[in-house]
Amino acid sequence: MKMASVCVWAARGFWVVFLLSLRFGCSAGQMVPAAFVLGDSLVDVGNNNYLPISLAKADFPHNGMDFPTKKPTGRFCNGKNTADFLAEKLGLPTSPPYLALVSNSSKSNSSSSFLTGVSFASGGAGIFDGTTEKYKQSVPFSKQVEYYLAVHESLVQHMGSSGAKKHVAKSLFIVVIGSNDIFSYSGSSDLRKQHTPQQYVDLMASSLKDHLKRLHGYDARKFVFVGLPPIGCCPSQRSQNKSACNEDTNTWSRMYNTALLAMLKGLKSELNDISYSYLDAYAVVQTLVQNPSAYGFTEVKAACCGLGNLNAKVGCLPISQYCPNRRDHVFWDLYHPTEAAARLFIDKAFHGSPQYAYPMDVQQLAAVEA
Ligand SMILES: *[C@@H]1O[C@H](CO)[C@@H](O)[C@H](O)[C@H]1NC(C)=O
Ligand SMILES: *[C@@H]1O[C@H](CO)[C@@H](O)[C@H](O)[C@H]1NC(C)=O
Ligand SMILES: *[C@@H]1O[C@H](CO)[C@@H](O)[C@H](O)[C@H]1NC(C)=O
Repeated sequence: MKMASVCVWAARGFWVVFLLSLRFGCSAGQMVPAAFVLGDSLVDVGNNNYLPISLAKADFPHNGMDFPTKKPTGRFCNGKNTADFLAEKLGLPTSPPYLALVSNSSKSNSSSSFLTGVSFASGGAGIFDGTTEKYKQSVPFSKQVEYYLAVHESLVQHMGSSGAKKHVAKSLFIVVIGSNDIFSYSGSSDLRKQHTPQQYVDLMASSLKDHLKRLHGYDARKFVFVGLPPIGCCPSQRSQNKSACNEDTNTWSRMYNTALLAMLKGLKSELNDISYSYLDAYAVVQTLVQNPSAYGFTEVKAACCGLGNLNAKVGCLPISQYCPNRRDHVFWDLYHPTEAAARLFIDKAFHGSPQYAYPMDVQQLAAVEA
């Protein structure tokens, strides 16, 4: 091919992409119009700052010490979390916390502020409403879905119902939930008497399925699910078992992941028009914990920020100590990964690793016609 025709083709390609992006409201480099995030503290970017009596908060030091602003933001992390890295890869700004947008001090409760997505994620949240009791206040999954319905209504007002439908159907719904339900089960002898582990994880999956159908009823079509990591290996669990992982909570996490995948398969055959990507956090964290030095980590057991055995007797409070090098710790506090671990997870699972993302990765999901 001659130089000139290459240029013509390149120019045509440019215009096609440019016009398509105008057509679909995407700016260059943006893979989908919006990301709506539902979940727990692993992806909370500040909703709980607006819950005055919640005990699940991170709006104080040393949280945020490595964030670009060097300030606490409400993320349970030293810096950016999984929601931030997913947004970066998608070419989107991090979806802002819903409660910030609708708070009385906000001037941005207008539909245009919802256009590139909103985060409903709240520390302490579970699939079952009851998980939030321990933290006095947090936004359970059912309430997050209701908040999404309010956002959908606002998009319909802004774009019309067929415009909103197209916009939302091309967008991603990122769902990171379930750890707190497993912790509740582990901590409650009543729950363990009422349900076998298999019954409990099946209930989690079927309850989530009802919520997903509701989202689907309001145009959600593309979902990213982050499976449960080996939660029995987080510092809080290790500190109760002589630094070894809690094999019970790990087993229940795997059981839930299996139930979730079976439910998703069923849901897809029921609804036909949904697509999803499942990110296997269990496998990624296991790989990391078994061979930390291959990924630049030296400490997989202790939290960076905290006090006591494994820095896990007390959470990351202003009085707690923190490690000098956050880059070499997998865990930031007694439950949550460091920025470095969250970045590695998304680097591994976003694209090109069929063993960590299935039935497709997030890049493929973004490209599905909808
Ligand atoms: C806004 O203020 C009103 C009364 O002043 C209160 O009832 C309402 O809950 C507030 N909304 C939010 C989101 O804080
Ligand atoms: C914006 O605020 C108004 C009044 O506070 C509320 O009724 C409305 O539901 C909010 N919009 C959304 C999308 O939540
Ligand atoms: C505690 O760790 C040991 C291994 O050292 C393991 O066999 C045991 O199952 C663990 N306890 C629980 C509750 O998982």
